[in-house]
Amino acid sequence: MVKNYLKIMSLASLIAFGQSAVAQQVHEFNLDTKKVGAPIQSTMYGLFFEDINFGADGGLYAELVKNRSFDFPQNLMGWYTFGKVEVRKDNSPFDRNPNYLILSDPGHAHKRTGIENEGFRGIGFKKDATYRFSVWGKKVSGDGDQKIRVEFINSKNDIIGSQELAINSADWKKYEVVMPAKATEEKGRLRIFFTTGGSIAVDHVSLFPTDTYKGRENGLRKDLAEALADIHPGIFRFPGGCIVEGTDLDTRYDWKKTIGPVENRPVNENRWHYTFPHRFFPDYFQSYGLGFYEYFLLSEDMGAEPLPVLSCGLACQYQNEGEHCHVPVGELDSYVQDALDLIEFANGPVTSAWGKVRADMGHPEPFNLKYIGIGNEQWGKEYSERLEPFVKAIRAKYPAMKIVGSSGPSADGKEFDYLWPEMKRLKVDLVDEHYYKEPDWFLNNAARYDNYDRKGPAVFAGEYASHDHPTGKQNNFLSALSEAAFMTGLERNADIVHMCTYAPLFAHVDGWQWNPDMIWFDNLRMMKTPNYYVQQIYAQNKGTNAMSLVWTADKKAVTGQESLYASAVYDKDTNCYIVKVVNTSDKAKDVKVTLAGAKKNATFTLGDCLKMQNSDMKAINTLDAPMNIVPRKATAAIEGNALVAKTEPQSFNIYKIKL
Ligand code: AHR
Repeated sequence: MVKNYLKIMSLASLIAFGQSAVAQQVHEFNLDTKKVGAPIQSTMYGLFFEDINFGADGGLYAELVKNRSFDFPQNLMGWYTFGKVEVRKDNSPFDRNPNYLILSDPGHAHKRTGIENEGFRGIGFKKDATYRFSVWGKKVSGDGDQKIRVEFINSKNDIIGSQELAINSADWKKYEVVMPAKATEEKGRLRIFFTTGGSIAVDHVSLFPTDTYKGRENGLRKDLAEALADIHPGIFRFPGGCIVEGTDLDTRYDWKKTIGPVENRPVNENRWHYTFPHRFFPDYFQSYGLGFYEYFLLSEDMGAEPLPVLSCGLACQYQNEGEHCHVPVGELDSYVQDALDLIEFANGPVTSAWGKVRADMGHPEPFNLKYIGIGNEQWGKEYSERLEPFVKAIRAKYPAMKIVGSSGPSADGKEFDYLWPEMKRLKVDLVDEHYYKEPDWFLNNAARYDNYDRKGPAVFAGEYASHDHPTGKQNNFLSALSEAAFMTGLERNADIVHMCTYAPLFAHVDGWQWNPDMIWFDNLRMMKTPNYYVQQIYAQNKGTNAMSLVWTADKKAVTGQESLYASAVYDKDTNCYIVKVVNTSDKAKDVKVTLAGAKKNATFTLGDCLKMQNSDMKAINTLDAPMNIVPRKATAAIEGNALVAKTEPQSFNIYKIKL
């Protein structure tokens, strides 16, 4: 009996021991404090901007009027007219946007003339906020001043803002009025009601909130621009993306058309209006109101290095087969000159031709441009033979400029394998890699750069996002967590990975062509996705030097063994180590990070620690619940020269250890 009892007891204690041994399994890592690794570039984490998903017009660019100069191919697209309205193009004040309207007395005391703009899927008005309405106008006929009534209309057709404006000159002139909205409305309209008996001409009808980012008149939507600045981006790529190339050469992004007075920046087709026939947006055009000057200003405001990308003379290769679609190699001079001129526009003295244009726009100081990309997702011999003359000309005139070349549209394969050696041959400084892949790819590629050639060029992970296809590619927690895991590999390889930018950046909930995207918005609100917060955590905790962090047992990098991914940096400005750990399993995992090699009397203290965690991999943020997944405070402890923490199931954690 006693014997049996002992047997049962020892079995029970063995089971208990076994259980506690499992529960207490500690995953031990070593952070070698003696080996301060490669500097992390200030450009390491940044932003990629493209006017896709109504990201510029209808998005970041705060203009609320669509087709403000009546120069869309269908001149009245976005406008409703009533009474006597005529489109004209003779004697326009703006030669590159020649159309304007004549509004005339309809000829009957009880008839009315006016126009209404529908905005970008509506116009967002906020109660008590003020809006700057402006219009170029002139009196055409009639006695005395001609008058218009400017009205804000809500979706029930009520007037929620109204102001009279007199058109008092027979010459073209800009008229302006600042007026408040009396109510909040997401899908409002702007009405211009002609109230006198003669006729007037109107052009470039514009409406901006006065409260733009930095209060600028041709400004940016404040909440969206602030969200970008809040990331603390180090690099800012612009203007895309495929939009750089154009569906044909005529519609490529031409930076010279995007500067100078906004009224005379010609309207361009936006390729995303027709790229996907299943998501067709016939009213999507580029006003270029957010052009290269505004881009350089925003980069400066955010403290990010600008990285403009220009056409290399190839129209989008997905959509154009055959040499005849592209600029012949021997005829690239004007394209190469465009690149040189852009550098002069950004950096040239005010005495230079393009430096003067910049100064005239209000920025005599140079923008200090250091990087330029030539070509987007290009491939084949067609690309390298076109890139070559750009590299030669830029090197000759601006030897310090860092040039970014392309490795094609995929993370591997024939084009990728062809282009990397070509980029080495041409001695570009960075190679742009793109990967839109499923979450597993990101998890399986956390070691992607561990064995890359260290001789260069450096890597620019210029477009990437985890695409969870079964959920319709939502910005869910799984996508964010897999990106966080993958990014430990970018950080570990910061000696050769010098830049990375998630893509795309913005999407209007009623006007998107591509998902997932980092920030979603409607006309009044915006939502930061979990993917946004992953980028922000990395950017705000990038440190100054990469550190080696390995499994204590086998000295291997932490790249997914036991469902754990980890990397570490040292930040010499704050004298602290920052450890990032991603746990992708559905179990909590204890980790211990020993700070090896520290002096005997060194004392470590715990700094701020953060986590992103969710037990539902499919969880998302929405405009109504934007705080569902956000970084929260994490707990950990310092024991001697080690950090100990219990990482929660499905979590991304950062731990700061101060010296
Ligand atoms: O980010 C969306 C698109 O994806 C970009 O325009 C293009 O470069 C890539 O194919």
